[in-house]
Amino acid sequence: MIIRSAKNILGSLRLPGDKSISHRYAMLAAIASGTTKLGNFSSGADCASTLGCVQQLGCAVRKTDGMVEIDGRERLQQPNASLDCGNSGSTMRMLSGILAGQDFSCDLHGDESLSRRPMARIMTPLRLMGAEINASTNDLPPLHIHGGKLRGIEYKTPIASAQVKSAVLFAGLFADGETTVEEPHRTRDHTEQALRAFGVELSRSRNRITIAGGQRLSAINAAIPGDISSAAFFLCAAALFPDSNLVIDNLLLNPTRASLLDVLKIMGAGVSVINLEEHHGELVGTVKVEHGKLKGTTIEGAQSVALIDELPVLAAIAPYTRDGIEIRDAKELRVKESDRIALVAHNLRAMGAQCEEHEDGLRVPGSQKLHGAEIDSGHDHRIAMAFAVAALRAEGETVIHGAESAKISFPEFFQMLESVVER
Ligand code: S3P
Repeated sequence: MIIRSAKNILGSLRLPGDKSISHRYAMLAAIASGTTKLGNFSSGADCASTLGCVQQLGCAVRKTDGMVEIDGRERLQQPNASLDCGNSGSTMRMLSGILAGQDFSCDLHGDESLSRRPMARIMTPLRLMGAEINASTNDLPPLHIHGGKLRGIEYKTPIASAQVKSAVLFAGLFADGETTVEEPHRTRDHTEQALRAFGVELSRSRNRITIAGGQRLSAINAAIPGDISSAAFFLCAAALFPDSNLVIDNLLLNPTRASLLDVLKIMGAGVSVINLEEHHGELVGTVKVEHGKLKGTTIEGAQSVALIDELPVLAAIAPYTRDGIEIRDAKELRVKESDRIALVAHNLRAMGAQCEEHEDGLRVPGSQKLHGAEIDSGHDHRIAMAFAVAALRAEGETVIHGAESAKISFPEFFQMLESVVER
């Protein structure tokens, strides 16, 4: 994909449904009684992987005009082949929680990138709950899960990960007694909201969530709000140009996901939110972004956790801010679909920027001029999209290699970007 520099970002957009919520609704629909109907389901390949797994587990899935219908089952069916999770860590980790509680064994595998991602983080708590779960060398996929009767546990997750929290809470549905998960920093809470929407009771006190086993789930009808992590690319792009004016409606604004808006505001962009509503516990609204001179900022601690998927695009626009952006406490970026710290640093340097790489983050000085370059996306969707945004303010043309990886979360990205770019 070739990206040329732009003058401005203008227009209004409505985005496909949030990836995190689509995964959770699809998984919970599979174990709920009745048929769940989901509008604006994520169009990305990751959520298609989840739907594929749900089908392999015996649930009927019907797709019509942006609507997905899933028939839940009293008992999931043992799949007759290994469950294909594709590129999706969310599918493999969260579904493992449900599979740990089933009375059958099964295998899960993924593509080359997923086969390099750590699974010990879910294997440890699921084993404590009584599941038999094995991986290949170094606790990497493929996984073999022998599910069965589980017992409730109290588990403090050493890493702040919504995927781990979700796997434990999902397993907790099939456990005797109560299961409690405590996380070191608050992570996205879609699992808690989704469980409540499907009729499950749970309680939270600070960063501890408790669920009682044996609860029944009932199907829901829901329209999934637009994905804020996909919106991030457009919001950051708009903030870069003096005459930008971008409106995104029907956007997910759950406070555990919307920190990017605060960061853009702190840096000086004009950000406003209107028409706030709540659907199934999720805040949804319209966001407008206008340019303001971007100062720069430091992102660390809990904020790095909250912004984990938005950090690549923030780092990619950092050279265009006045003082630059420093990102720390984000070691998790190294075990995403790619080593996002190393790839961001490599690609920024390819565009002529200076940047310092740290084990847990990056420091990108501000007030730099970038030039077009050949970008190595590492087949990582968020790297491909982040550098398409950086390319808009660079001099000359940028070639994004592996741009098709955008389909993992956002197949419409390049087409939508062209629709709002003024040249
Ligand atoms: C996700 C949680 C995050 C995030 C991923 C989606 C989720 O991963 O990076 O893209 O939907 O729960 P971790 O929970 O592993 O940090």
